[in-house]
Amino acid sequence: MNHDPQDEATDNAAQTDIADDTPHHRRIRSFVTRAGRVSTGQRRALDEFGPRFVVGYSDAQPDWDAVFGREMPRVLEIGFGMGGTTAEIAAARPADDFIGVEVHEPGVGALLKLIGEQSLRNIRIIQHDAVEVIEHMIAPQSLDGVHIYFPDPWHKARHHKRRLIQPKFVALLVSRLKPGGYIHLATDWQNYAEQMLEVLSAEPALKNTADGYAPRPDYRPVTKFERRGIKLGHGVWDLVFRRV
Ligand SMILES: C[S@@+](CC[C@H](N)C(=O)[O-])C[C@H]1O[C@@H](n2cnc3c(N)ncnc32)[C@H](O)[C@@H]1O
Repeated sequence: MNHDPQDEATDNAAQTDIADDTPHHRRIRSFVTRAGRVSTGQRRALDEFGPRFVVGYSDAQPDWDAVFGREMPRVLEIGFGMGGTTAEIAAARPADDFIGVEVHEPGVGALLKLIGEQSLRNIRIIQHDAVEVIEHMIAPQSLDGVHIYFPDPWHKARHHKRRLIQPKFVALLVSRLKPGGYIHLATDWQNYAEQMLEVLSAEPALKNTADGYAPRPDYRPVTKFERRGIKLGHGVWDLVFRRV
């Protein structure tokens, strides 16, 4: 689901932008609220698997060991879209636990459907703004990894402020990583890749695992969308940095 929400920007969204600039709303608003339709299958999955695998947003930190029923390396994924990549990675890494955060309800339903179909037990979902989730529900130095794949590129310069990957947000992410924990980003938007490289390189607590962009780690599957883009000659850039 690698759409660019700017293409759907409405007068409403423009107004939200203005509201975001008021002193009371200085946080990043990296997503647009889309009135996506939840399919019958997704609704069924929400009803059947939601109670077990969705963790409600709260401004207190859950006991994640109790939530997962074990104490294993824990990875946070922000903006999992329809969850295909999340499910594939969770299946390939059964010894790790994954907390997926997404605001879009059909995406939550889609991932729950995959969890049900594949009997995945190492994913939990929070349907809420990731910035607030990280601030309130994730303890400092508690994560082994963070995945952010194809975040909304907000390609118009006047919208760049809505991009997720900015110094303040990266500092927040770093504070939640254990020493040695990693941040893995991927994008197909060159200008955003350059911004990611610049922001991550400037964060003193992070060290690049590669010389610039990283080769795609084996655990990140190539998505259908990405394969099509590659055929058309478009690039994809991965970045993997570790907390020192
Ligand atoms: C372009 S899509 C990419 C989805 C998926 N990672 C993929 O590779 O197909 C970006 C997703 O991030 C979600 N998103 C953006 N900002 C978010 C935020 N602050 N908190 C939670 N989800 C967010 C959007 O709803 C959207 O589904």
